[in-house]
Amino acid sequence: MRLDKYFTSVGLLSRKECAQAAKKGRIAVNGSIVKDASSHINEDEDTVTLDGCAVQYRKFTYIMLNKPAGYVSATEAPDDVTVLTLLPPELQKIGLFPCGRLDKNTLGLMILTNNGPLAHRLLAPKTHCEKVYRFESRFPLSEEDRLTLEGGVDLGDFTSAPCKVTLHSPQSGEITLTEGKYHQIKRMLEAVHNKVTALERIRFADIALDPALERGQWRHLGEEEQKSIEKLL
Ligand code: URA
Repeated sequence: MRLDKYFTSVGLLSRKECAQAAKKGRIAVNGSIVKDASSHINEDEDTVTLDGCAVQYRKFTYIMLNKPAGYVSATEAPDDVTVLTLLPPELQKIGLFPCGRLDKNTLGLMILTNNGPLAHRLLAPKTHCEKVYRFESRFPLSEEDRLTLEGGVDLGDFTSAPCKVTLHSPQSGEITLTEGKYHQIKRMLEAVHNKVTALERIRFADIALDPALERGQWRHLGEEEQKSIEKLL
């Protein structure tokens, strides 16, 4: 792989920045300075450093983002700002795609990847991995409502699959879904004559939202998290 492609694919430098960094002698391959950004390297075996720091090569990039309200989980939206704009410019150019949609006003865990088949698989409504949401409702939910939601409710175009609903208080709790239809939780609460007033995703499959991430912040997935998500392919 060309050195400049290597740096763009991990989202560290643009092609132009790579050419400039190489010219200045900031890049080394296996300990030797490489001044030509079009040089070829073996991304699996060579050790590449930038300013003396080893670069970790990733075939695919996986990002955890704590989504704030007001951002749409899409790659393009003419009239809105997308979650991608919360990432640095280099990471906006490597084909990242949100795995599974969240409504514009829903908060919390969003995973983005440029592993295309995985992103599509996780986006598909038929993907049955667990997604856990914390919610607040306008009116108290009774035990009967809770059981109705757990059993599945008729939403007109489909009936929701059995799910787990835990109440933390009469007007708040957690719902674990294994499906992900449009506005699903909002519509489920409407089916029991209630309304969602706050919604946050806190887990996606085995990956929990990192409590250290503020709203709008992101980080790369760790090795174990990455393995657990790749298992879903
Ligand atoms: N259910 C909803 O209603 N909205 C979301 O964003 C996610 C699940």
